[in-house]
Amino acid sequence: MPDAPGDNILVTGALGQIGTELVEALREAHGPESVIATDIRESEDHPSATNGPFITLDVLDNSSLTQVCFEHGIGEIYHLAALLSATGERNPELCRKVNIGGTRSVLEAARTCFTRVYSPSSIAVFGPDSPKQAPQDAELNPTTVYGETKVSGEEMAREYLAKFSVDTRGIRYPGLVSYKAPAGGGTTDYAVEIFHAALGSGHYDCFVRSDTRLPMLYMDDAIRATISLMRASSDSLGTSRAGYNISCLSFTAKELAEAISERVEGFTCNFVPDERQAYADSWPDSIDGSIAHREWGWVPEYDLNEMVDAMLRGISGD
Ligand code: NAD
Ligand code: SER
Repeated sequence: MPDAPGDNILVTGALGQIGTELVEALREAHGPESVIATDIRESEDHPSATNGPFITLDVLDNSSLTQVCFEHGIGEIYHLAALLSATGERNPELCRKVNIGGTRSVLEAARTCFTRVYSPSSIAVFGPDSPKQAPQDAELNPTTVYGETKVSGEEMAREYLAKFSVDTRGIRYPGLVSYKAPAGGGTTDYAVEIFHAALGSGHYDCFVRSDTRLPMLYMDDAIRATISLMRASSDSLGTSRAGYNISCLSFTAKELAEAISERVEGFTCNFVPDERQAYADSWPDSIDGSIAHREWGWVPEYDLNEMVDAMLRGISGD
């Protein structure tokens, strides 16, 4: 494959929950000027926009995206621009347009510019027929539009690798828990909101049932997994490379609330399920990440207690 225009990094969706921390980590590793943050939203005060180059860019605009790749010497794209499950199910057409169209646009830019691509998938690829501990190779029959777009994303990544030798990689992220940026409209947002409510008003109305168990991961682990996968030798990656299951946490909403109550005096939580309950119920409780472990050595560092401590410390500014 010919050389990419350079070895700088472009991040789409850089103002979002993951982008905020991925841009920070990549700039620490490669230098601020090497990481071009982009998003459809404008920002004058977000760290991704103030700590290094930032370009306002709609990922669906393939010609601008390709031009930016050439002009800024991009060798690697981290494609984070998307609509998450709750927002996506409220607006399925826009969800298909941004998630499928956006991924196609990034893969086309990568094909033209010979760049590598990281494009995340999600536990939402699984449907209610998957085993509750979902294996890597489960049949993928999601019941959400968001999940369908993520299955399409994995298929497109495999297609561009097979037909055009574009080096594509991805992780089926579980729900990600972090404090540096708000969660972006997903079903797993309760696992973020609950911390802010606990330290704010001392009470949270959780929008899923207390026994809802989902795969989750602290953001530091997610960023480490992402960068580890992109640093792995291509030869070590097998047929799961478009969407790896990774080992992560698995806890119920009640277990999370109890872990917070043990640390925040007087915290109370009610469980008041809304339409997001059905999306959560269609996803697995946990996922088997043994292939990611074997092929690129993934092991998470944070357990539930360490994650809760880190979240409370981070939000309190300690
Ligand atoms: P987010 O909603 O926090 O951020 C997405 C960003 O994309 C936003 O800043 C938004 O402005 C931007 N965006 C939307 N449409 C765009 C467009 N047309 N062009 C350019 N930018 C656009 O999402 P996130 O949580 O950071 O998720 C990033 C990726 O990871 C997504 O693909 C998501 O499906 C996946 N993922 C996230 C989680 C999670 O828990 N956060 C879990 C599984 C998978
Ligand atoms: N955390 C994401 C969501 O809830 C899963 O992809 O939408």
